[in-house]
Formats: sequence, C-alpha cells, structure tokens
Amino acid sequence: MGSFRLDGKRALVTGASRGIGRACAIAMAAAGADVTLVARSQPDLDALVSSIRHQGFAARALALDVTDSAAVKRELAAAGPFDLLFNNAGVNRPKPFLEMDEETLDWLLDVNVRSAYIVAQAVAKGMVAQGTGGAIVNMSSQMGVVGGVGRSVYCATKHAIEGMTKAMALELAEYEIRVNSVGPTFIETPMTAAAFGDPRRRADILARIPLGRPGRVSDVCGAVIFLSSPAASLITGTLLLVDGGWTAQ
Ligand SMILES: NC(=O)c1ccc[n+]([C@@H]2O[C@H](COP(=O)([O-])OP(=O)(O)OC[C@H]3O[C@@H](n4cnc5c(N)ncnc54)[C@H](OP(=O)(O)O)[C@@H]3O)[C@@H](O)[C@H]2O)c1
Repeated sequence: MGSFRLDGKRALVTGASRGIGRACAIAMAAAGADVTLVARSQPDLDALVSSIRHQGFAARALALDVTDSAAVKRELAAAGPFDLLFNNAGVNRPKPFLEMDEETLDWLLDVNVRSAYIVAQAVAKGMVAQGTGGAIVNMSSQMGVVGGVGRSVYCATKHAIEGMTKAMALELAEYEIRVNSVGPTFIETPMTAAAFGDPRRRADILARIPLGRPGRVSDVCGAVIFLSSPAASLITGTLLLVDGGWTAQ
C-alpha cells in the first residue's frame, strides 16, 4: 500500500489564510510537505507560516489575489514547480435565485471557477515541465452534487468544479498527474458563521446531516491528504464527499 505521507513534496494551498485551507495547510505540512500558502491577507499568512515553522515543518507565504490571472501566472511560475495543489480558495454569498444580482454572479464565477481554473492550469504546467507527476485536489462541495436553497450560483460553481476535475483528470493522466475533488458538507468556518449563528438555520443544517454534527475543518484534512498521497495512486477524476451522509438521503 502507498504511503499516506507527503514527504519531499512541494505543495501549493490556496485560500490558506483561514478556514479549511488553513487547517489543511497545517496538516499537509505535518504530513511532510513543504507548503506554499496563498491568500490575499499577508498578515494572516505570515502568522500561519510562523506557526507551522514553530512546529518544525516547512512553509512559506505567497500573498496573491487569485482573480488576478496575470499575477497568478507570473507568481506561480516563479514560486513553482509544485508536486501537489490544494485548489481551495472560494467564496459564497447566499441569495435567493430570483434576487440574485450580476455582481454576485460574476464574483462567484470569477473566484470559484475562473480563478480555480487558472491556478490549476498554472500549477499543472509546472508539473508537466518538471516531469515527475503530481496530484491536484480541487475544492468542491456537497453543493457540487446536489442543489441548495439560496445557493444557485454557488451550486453552479461547484458543479463546474466537478466537470473541470473530470476533464483535467483525463488530460493530465498521461503526465501521471492525478486530479480529484473533495466535497464537504457545512463546515464551521468564517464562511458559514452566519448560517451556524442562526439557531433555526443551524438546526435545519444538522437535521440534514445523518451523522448529526457540523463539519469541522479537521474532517476535511484527512480527505485532502489521502487524495494527495501515494495511497491514492490509482484514484483520479473522482469526488470524495465529506458530507456526514447529507447526499446519501
Ligand atoms: N465552509 C464550508 O461549509 C464549505 C463547505 C464546502 C466547501 N467549501 C469550500 O471550501 C473552500 C474554503 O472555504 P472556507 O469555509 O474555509 O472559507 P473561508 O473561511 O471564507 O476562507 C476562504 C479562503 O479563501 C481565500 N480567498 C478568498 N478570495 C480570495 C482571492 N480572491 N484570492 C486569494 N484568496 C482568496 C481567503 O483568504 P483572503 O481573504 O485572505 O484572501 C480564505 O483564506 C471554498 O472553496 C468553499 O467553497 C466550504
């Protein structure tokens, strides 16, 4: 069986300044990877780099707005090549379908789809040039499989990630680059603080999670490390749901 460790691998993690990306960056570093952390907030990244290094692991910060495609291409070419990518940066602004505005529509499509695509392409080019394969984990959601009230655009973006993941897996297989996605349920992070902070909404969410508790950032880390590791060496083009059973119903 292949190892679950990431020793000797260089990993890029986007959306690393807080929430799921932050937790997974720490976990990937603890699993042996040298992690490069991307987000816009330089102070948050610097604090995280210090904390990871303090634990004896390797990390560096790369402050970047992933919607700035010219900067993404330039900076990732300079900072790479990478062996692993956790393509995680993403946003949401829930709104009823009939009230959705174009500014929100464009913002979500830009961050969640267009930027994820450009980041993946930039990293994959470096992997291909390096010639030693790689593993990419795109951040999807259970909303990449099912619908959600107030989440028409978010669902569209995560369903797009599912299509992108499968097509990337087919095209990059010849370079031994595996491409998968993870699909969490509602995880307690700054993104979901408003939903979990509303008692009725929290109860609605928990009623739909058969395992009966909110997701924690740590719940996602194992899935990301597994898909990034040699233990998943024949797994590509698939979605690993971390949804407490939400989509099983
Ligand atoms: N929380 C959930 O319940 C849940 C469930 C399923 C899937 N997801 C997905 O998981 C991912 C992370 O979610 P989260 O809950 O951890 O969100 P979060 O706590 O709001 O963190 C989002 C991260 O993305 C970064 N980011 C946002 N816009 C960016 C930009 N333009 N350029 C660079 N970085 C940017 C943020 O950093 P800066 O603000 O510093 O740039 C932050 O590090 C998202 O793709 C989300 O859709 C979340």
